[in-house]
Amino acid sequence: MDGKEHTVTFAWAQLTDLPAVLSLLSACSLPAEGADAVIPTMLVAREGKRLIGCAGLEVYGMVALLRSVALYPAYRDQQLGQHLVQAMLAHAKQLGLLEVYLLTETASNYFPRFGFRMINRAAVAPAIQLSVEWTRACPVSAQAMVLHLDAV
Ligand SMILES: CC(C)(COP(=O)(O)OP(=O)(O)OC[C@H]1O[C@@H](n2cnc3c(N)ncnc32)[C@H](O)[C@@H]1OP(=O)(O)O)[C@@H](O)C(=O)NCCC(=O)NCCS
Repeated sequence: MDGKEHTVTFAWAQLTDLPAVLSLLSACSLPAEGADAVIPTMLVAREGKRLIGCAGLEVYGMVALLRSVALYPAYRDQQLGQHLVQAMLAHAKQLGLLEVYLLTETASNYFPRFGFRMINRAAVAPAIQLSVEWTRACPVSAQAMVLHLDAV
């Protein structure tokens, strides 16, 4: 930080954000595979021009996969993750989606505050089980979680 006041802003990602998104995912040890495809439905947080956070939604029919929720360590614990997740869930609800799933190895205790609950991987909607994140990017040890949007 340079000591100057910087305001964090949120916006839909642009295709030109891909390299910065990949750097952020790498810094957070999150899978990069499939990130290019999710850019059109990804929200990003910026401080000035610097991309500091992101959250993506992969839509499969009436359900979606929330993925790549990430902030650089210096920007954590400031409700920026909460803002990104809540904006994504509001968007999913606006689209009329029924359920949002996610897979996580590191944050299964973070997402319950938004209404997500842990589920057995076998209970995940078939469309999600065909996603790149499910089939290739996330290890089988990742915890599956679901949020029913009609309940929020
Ligand atoms: C998970 C993550 C996005 C949370 O973002 P954030 O902006 O720091 O979180 P918020 O400010 O909205 O919320 C802070 C609260 O969440 C808790 N929290 C943050 N990360 C957590 C985690 N991985 N597991 C459990 N709780 C977590 C904090 O302890 C804090 O709790 P409090 O409200 O009781 O004080 C961020 O820590 C991150 O980028 N982690 C690395 C990438 C990752 O694991 N992503 C999730 C998998 S897709």
